[in-house]
Amino acid sequence: MDGNGRWAASRGLPRLRGHMEGTESVRAIMEACVEAGIEYASFFAFSEENWGRSAEEVEGLMKLMMKAMKDELNTLLGNDIRFVVIGSRERLSKELTDSIDDLMAKTAGGRRLTMIIFLNYSGKWDIRQAAARLAAEGGTDIEPYLATAGIPDPDLMIRTSGEKRISNYMLWQLAYTEFVFTDTLWPDFRKQEFLAALEEFASRDRRYGKTK
Ligand code: IPE
Ligand code: MG
Repeated sequence: MDGNGRWAASRGLPRLRGHMEGTESVRAIMEACVEAGIEYASFFAFSEENWGRSAEEVEGLMKLMMKAMKDELNTLLGNDIRFVVIGSRERLSKELTDSIDDLMAKTAGGRRLTMIIFLNYSGKWDIRQAAARLAAEGGTDIEPYLATAGIPDPDLMIRTSGEKRISNYMLWQLAYTEFVFTDTLWPDFRKQEFLAALEEFASRDRRYGKTK
């Protein structure tokens, strides 16, 4: 999800207003996923690197996260959605981690869609923590130790706002993912834009390194 700040700046609004509008896009895409029969939807909400932003913005983002989780409980339950948060718990407030645990427990029975928020996540962190546990506990495969264990690798990754980078997202898991880049800023990315990305995905020829 990228472009919230630019969306706000282009309207002469504070960056946080862009993040607030962005949460509306999360809700819209979540609903579109349910309608489309998609089983897993991941949202990169806050990276390890995002701590480097102003204290005001970081605090605002954390508060927004808390509020969104409180507001969405009934929508999640009503749509049979399982809510999952992936990322390091380090530096997150107890209030926030308690809310996360509470929402994850309350929605654990959701079967229609698993909605994953990547919070305080980075792909290098994930590989590093998985490698450390693999070394300590043994085994030959790193995958069961990744923070995403049990969740299928993504088929499609969409990045908004015209940037064409991975920015330390799921470095391991994106190995054979199809990428769609759009100039649309995240707060403007709604159902119609999402369906267009799905259409582009449907036209891709996936060979996984093999011939046809
Ligand atoms: C939202 O967009 C992504 C988050 C890290 C919350 P940005 O805040 O990166 O928006 P731009 O890139 O400044 O426009
Ligand atoms: Mg950005």
